Amino acid sequence: MTGIRLQAPAPGWSIDADVVVVGSGVAGLTAALRCTAAGLRTVVVTKARLDDGSTRWAQGGIAAALGEGDTPEQHLDDTLVAGAGLCDEEAVRLLVTDGPDAVRRLIATGARFDTDPTGTIALTREGGHHRRRIAHAGGDATGAEISRALVDAVRDRAVRTIENALVLDLLTDADGRTAGVTLHVMGEGQHDGVGAVHAPAVVLATGGMGQVFSATTNPAVSTGDGVALALRAGAEVSDLEFVQFHPTVLFLGPDAEGQQPLVSEAVRGEGAHLVDADGVRFMVGQHELAELAPRDIVAKGIMRRMREQGARHMYLDARHFGAAMWESRFPTILAACRAHGIDPVTRPVPVAPAAHYASGGVRTDLHGRTTVPGLYACGEVACTGVHGANRLASNSLLEGLVFAERIADDIAASTARAGAPVPHPAPTLLPLLAPETRTRIQHVMTTGAGVLRSAASLAEAADALDAVHAEALSDGPDGNKAAEPGVESWETTNLLCVARVLVTAARRREETRGCHWREDRPDRDDAAWRRHLVVRLGPDRTLDVRPTDTQDFPPTDADAPREP
Ligand code: SIN
Repeated sequence: MTGIRLQAPAPGWSIDADVVVVGSGVAGLTAALRCTAAGLRTVVVTKARLDDGSTRWAQGGIAAALGEGDTPEQHLDDTLVAGAGLCDEEAVRLLVTDGPDAVRRLIATGARFDTDPTGTIALTREGGHHRRRIAHAGGDATGAEISRALVDAVRDRAVRTIENALVLDLLTDADGRTAGVTLHVMGEGQHDGVGAVHAPAVVLATGGMGQVFSATTNPAVSTGDGVALALRAGAEVSDLEFVQFHPTVLFLGPDAEGQQPLVSEAVRGEGAHLVDADGVRFMVGQHELAELAPRDIVAKGIMRRMREQGARHMYLDARHFGAAMWESRFPTILAACRAHGIDPVTRPVPVAPAAHYASGGVRTDLHGRTTVPGLYACGEVACTGVHGANRLASNSLLEGLVFAERIADDIAASTARAGAPVPHPAPTLLPLLAPETRTRIQHVMTTGAGVLRSAASLAEAADALDAVHAEALSDGPDGNKAAEPGVESWETTNLLCVARVLVTAARRREETRGCHWREDRPDRDDAAWRRHLVVRLGPDRTLDVRPTDTQDFPPTDADAPREP
């Protein structure tokens, strides 16, 4: 327990539950449905509407060994290669072995995947997969369909939900065990203002942190709230330096900011080529899978060619698909391109890498337990050990499903009881950052800690973030310039917190591995760096960074049987 809290008014209302799930993507809703099925009083808290998170935006699909001749072992091999030596093999084995049945359960819940004329699930390929293994829905609207099915199921089963609610901090009992969360409900719904949900189990499924960069495929809600909350609660986070930059994001100009349209890897899986300004296929010869190499390799290939040619983007050429295929297989991407004046049927699509996925996050064991008893994490906010230094394409929806189910089973089997929430005896209230600071943080991160990093660029980023931090501290509770509590200032404060951890870890990792690309350390260094960087926030707000060789952590009292 750090005792560090966001400045916020005291809760004005509270409700009781057995479990509170924070987030409503594939991971959150899967956990909530399974907890509900186990008879647990479950409350889902979500920042916007139930379907507003990252899941809805997933295009390509969900990876699982469903095809003829494919096996979990082959899926495991591809995942380990993409993870560049840092996957936890046991976690990956669980993922790929449970995966096919988890997808079948999702279908039983109501998700409708695309099928071939015989009614068999249609499978495509994406980067790093040696087989067709990606199930998709609505052509390129897989996440939207999964979200629809899960939201319908949550409504059918009358799971209690609180929408438009930003989670603030973890509540703990006198033993330091999870006892619920505080949250701020934004205007609509039954409750309003700051309140609390009291529960002995909290599942963080808050998604990613892409908004820490200027341009990202992530929606506006992805501001790293779960990682920041976990750090303040004293939990460990791991692998935060491994931010995946998706190679093919529609290029809308050098100054484009915020959420950018994704052009799914599945487009390359179906035969599109990456070409430079001269029409040359530059990935051929760089990797045996050419355009379908793991995503970090393709992103690097694009960046290198952009530098060689002084170009701001490359092109994805799929004119040979023809209009009919574009319309039936990739309707979402076609519409997004046309909305920006680019017709992929008649011209190559300009693309460049942009921040896409946090491979690291809140460190968990194989049951999704964090290092704080009663606090769980799943989905993008978590670091289960599945992704290592670089997530394999379309493993994220699967990870959300499989580990959410494991968490629900663990909570249902637990006899742990929380005492009443108690205030920390000496809380440190974080001064809040003014919302205008957000753009500054995003520019610092994009310039210094983006797809290409170096000791110098990271040092500059660290100094700039320290300056933002120091200004906030000097303008803190005793000063007169600290921002007022409010959604934007809480989010901006969370963004600074995750940015500092990310830069700290990226500076420490003096090598290039997976999606962490250091220009000054171009080689992978297994002797020194085949290990994770685990970070904790100290009570004095310093960051404690610890290298570790494994994903294991000592058992917490969540493992111990408890008196009912
Ligand atoms: C894509 O469709 O290219 C994104 C899939 C993913 O991020 O796994």
